[in-house]
Amino acid sequence: MTRQLDDDGRLRHLLTIAGLPAALLTEILDTAESFLPETGPPVKKVPLLRGATVVNLFFEASTRTRTTFELAAKRLSADVLNMQVEHSSKTKGEHDLDTLFTLQAMGADVFVVRHPDNGAAAGFAEQVAPGVAVLNAGDGSHAHPTQALLDMLTIRRHKPDFSGLTVAIVGDVRHSRVAHSDIDALHALGAREIRVIAPPPLMPAEPGNLGVRTHDRLAEGLAGVDVVIALRIQHERMQRTLDITPEDYRRDFGLTAENLQALPADALIMHPGPINRGVEIDADIAYGPRSVILEQVRNGIAVRMAVMAMIAGGRHRV
Ligand code: NCD
Repeated sequence: MTRQLDDDGRLRHLLTIAGLPAALLTEILDTAESFLPETGPPVKKVPLLRGATVVNLFFEASTRTRTTFELAAKRLSADVLNMQVEHSSKTKGEHDLDTLFTLQAMGADVFVVRHPDNGAAAGFAEQVAPGVAVLNAGDGSHAHPTQALLDMLTIRRHKPDFSGLTVAIVGDVRHSRVAHSDIDALHALGAREIRVIAPPPLMPAEPGNLGVRTHDRLAEGLAGVDVVIALRIQHERMQRTLDITPEDYRRDFGLTAENLQALPADALIMHPGPINRGVEIDADIAYGPRSVILEQVRNGIAVRMAVMAMIAGGRHRV
């Protein structure tokens, strides 16, 4: 397994939340918090990464993750290169590693990688030169560590005591890298209870190994929760077509006004985006008073700044 920490326990790559010490996760959240003013957009420019080059290397579509990584790098004063690989030489048959080596030859210090294959970011981390860092921006259904960190920051700003926290993740946990990383982070930070609410085809294969409780009825699963995280149904990662219509899914598992009667009044409603309105969540709920979905987006900039500052700060060639 690729090592994420150097000999001094400092972050070297960020590939997965699994195995990272709670103290390090807390340090990332605290650093992110220092970039967030009480109100308004995250901090103005700071010179922490001046002279460094950050390459967003995306082999898969993205809206929030790519743009917030770009903004985060720019706020740290890094030079940023955005590569959407379907549009480049991959269409001419270039191997992913040759794309990586080419960009490394141009002086990249940090690669932010999104890829459809599980383990792709770790594979790249094995190949980069010493001193070059790889940040996983989502690999297949495996992990999405910065999303989990921004989710934890969003929760912590409202509900700081994780030891009392019950979190329900609703929907396609089986195919969700976000859910897998959220579950790792919630365990590491000591959350009291993690529930997965889903129909059988979207349940994780071995929920017992994930340390979660499972529910196949929404009302039952939402009772007493502090946070509910809805997920998109990730059809593109499924081996077989899902045998549930969007209408049936919404009726049984959608975050709708009717279904949320079981949700405690002070619970937070979250979603990593992109949302499918009227399927896993209704628009009035996504933009309603209990939703923190847009806070998640804003906190994503601060978290990505924190990770890049901690990984690349003081290490890149200036
Ligand atoms: C997610 C992703 O790409 O894993 N979105 C995100 O990064 N904010 C979730 C999804 O695609 O449904």
